[in-house]
Amino acid sequence: MKTVLASDLNPIQTNAWLVGGVAPRPIAFASTVDREGRRNLAPFSFYNAFGSNPPMVAFGPNRRGRDGTVKHTYLNAEATGEFVIASVSYGMVQQMNVASAEYGDGVDEFLKSGFTPEPARFVKPALVAESPFQMECKLHQVMDLGGKPGSGIMLIGEVLCFHAKEEVLTDGLPDTRKLDLVGRAGGAFYARAHGDALFEIAKPVGQPIGWEAIPTLLKESHLLTANDLGRLANSAALPDLDAMERHPNDPAAPESLEEAIHLALRREDLDEAWRLVGLRLKA
Ligand SMILES: Cc1cc2nc3c(=O)[nH]c(=O)nc-3n(C[C@H](O)[C@H](O)[C@H](O)COP(=O)(O)O)c2cc1C
Repeated sequence: MKTVLASDLNPIQTNAWLVGGVAPRPIAFASTVDREGRRNLAPFSFYNAFGSNPPMVAFGPNRRGRDGTVKHTYLNAEATGEFVIASVSYGMVQQMNVASAEYGDGVDEFLKSGFTPEPARFVKPALVAESPFQMECKLHQVMDLGGKPGSGIMLIGEVLCFHAKEEVLTDGLPDTRKLDLVGRAGGAFYARAHGDALFEIAKPVGQPIGWEAIPTLLKESHLLTANDLGRLANSAALPDLDAMERHPNDPAAPESLEEAIHLALRREDLDEAWRLVGLRLKA
């Protein structure tokens, strides 16, 4: 394991460690206006949601690494107390990238990137018509996290309202499978939350049996993966393994039984997996 002290890194190296390992990050496409009402639009991946009562989001239009100067988005949000955050879907990425260039004062990135501004309901900054999910926000707090080149500036905003396109909703709620959102990773990499890249796992019910309840024999297996054992550890209760019954077509060899356990877990057939675990312990 390589370990580096943050204090031994310069700001550029530090940034590379952060964006490489804290990934993929959601992208806040932030729409703001300056005091004269001139539009601004820029993406920020130092971003997340931090609570739901009241709903709070935060993102970081940080000081530039080269000279410590601040970005239009920060200046505008600070001056007006308002911003809109639009989520970025795969169909928007190339235009979003155009909006991220460092344009001069008063340049409207809606025009530069070809996105369509649409009036918001409660705030002056425009909505991005192409985005499937957006939030109108009121500035709650600004946190200056260092004041030096590359330092963070965190804008925390309270969400006043959510907007979502009808086609990304299921039962009235945003559906990850329909949104097709992108995230930012290290370097120039992005991730797409779409198709096979999305998977579901069962939430723990109460207090699961835990790793220590998994038979040692299974932990020593070369066929069962850490995810297989983790799925078993997430069981609500340990079944009576001595009572598991053999079926006519069950394999007999230990390796074949482990392969069958692995396949049952991939099908999310937990009862069958435990039955086969019982047979494996007797094999
Ligand atoms: C996907 C993506 C994510 C970005 N994330 C950030 C970020 O979290 N913080 C930041 O300061 N700049 C970030 N940038 C760079 C800003 O978008 C860029 O500096 C932009 O010109 C700022 O615009 P503004 O001065 O109009 O606010 C990101 C760029 C891209 C393409």
